[in-house]
Amino acid sequence: DLSPSDKAKFLAAKRAVDYVKDGMRVGLGTGSTAAWMVRCLGERIREEGLKITGVPTSRRTYDLAQQVGVPVATLEETRWLDLTIDGADEYDSQLNLIKGGGGALLQEKIVATASDQMIVIADITKQVETLGAFPLPVEVIKFGWQTTKLLIEETLINMDVMGRECSLRMNVDEPYITDEGNYILDLHLRRIAKPSQLSLVLNQIPGVVENGLFIDICDVLVIGHQDGRVEVRD
Ligand code: A5P
Repeated sequence: DLSPSDKAKFLAAKRAVDYVKDGMRVGLGTGSTAAWMVRCLGERIREEGLKITGVPTSRRTYDLAQQVGVPVATLEETRWLDLTIDGADEYDSQLNLIKGGGGALLQEKIVATASDQMIVIADITKQVETLGAFPLPVEVIKFGWQTTKLLIEETLINMDVMGRECSLRMNVDEPYITDEGNYILDLHLRRIAKPSQLSLVLNQIPGVVENGLFIDICDVLVIGHQDGRVEVRD
């Protein structure tokens, strides 16, 4: 009895899990779509005796993996991975992404980059012509974060973006803290004309740890539709 949106997420997750083979080291993404993937992996482990090692991209995913019986290791232990399966907040026709709506972008980018292949699972509502309607998450060090924010705003003035508003992500009335102990600034840009350039420029700013643009990282996109269709793009 899933809602249409959960059904689309589940179907994409289930299809992506078919890519996982015995013995693989698999990066486990974060978010509601990735959670379906972790549950599907748990099912294959129980039913087929599939043997894999999962590397979670957040404390939340670590907890879920434990719950559903997916064996976990740290990236320190595995170093390299065969495959990462993760969700996204937006994707475009080039398979470029915005991620980090759930706050896990830093570990997600490290894990995806350490993988031979990244498969992104999403429902069709995440599809955009141009990235940027979803606010771009930027993880920043706490020290001097207001200065980092001013530097980001100055940078945005020189870039081809429409919006320039940056807001500190909150958790009720306290700043949201990432798994790595940092803050997140959400950049309301509306339209990102040059995502790879913006990503490079943001990461040059002192205090910026990482940004939520995933450029040329995703290899395969599995899209779930509410009518039950699943589409694969690569
Ligand atoms: C987590 O930090 C994000 O990058 C998620 O991948 C993204 O927010 C997608 O989440 P949902 O699957 O819940 O939409």
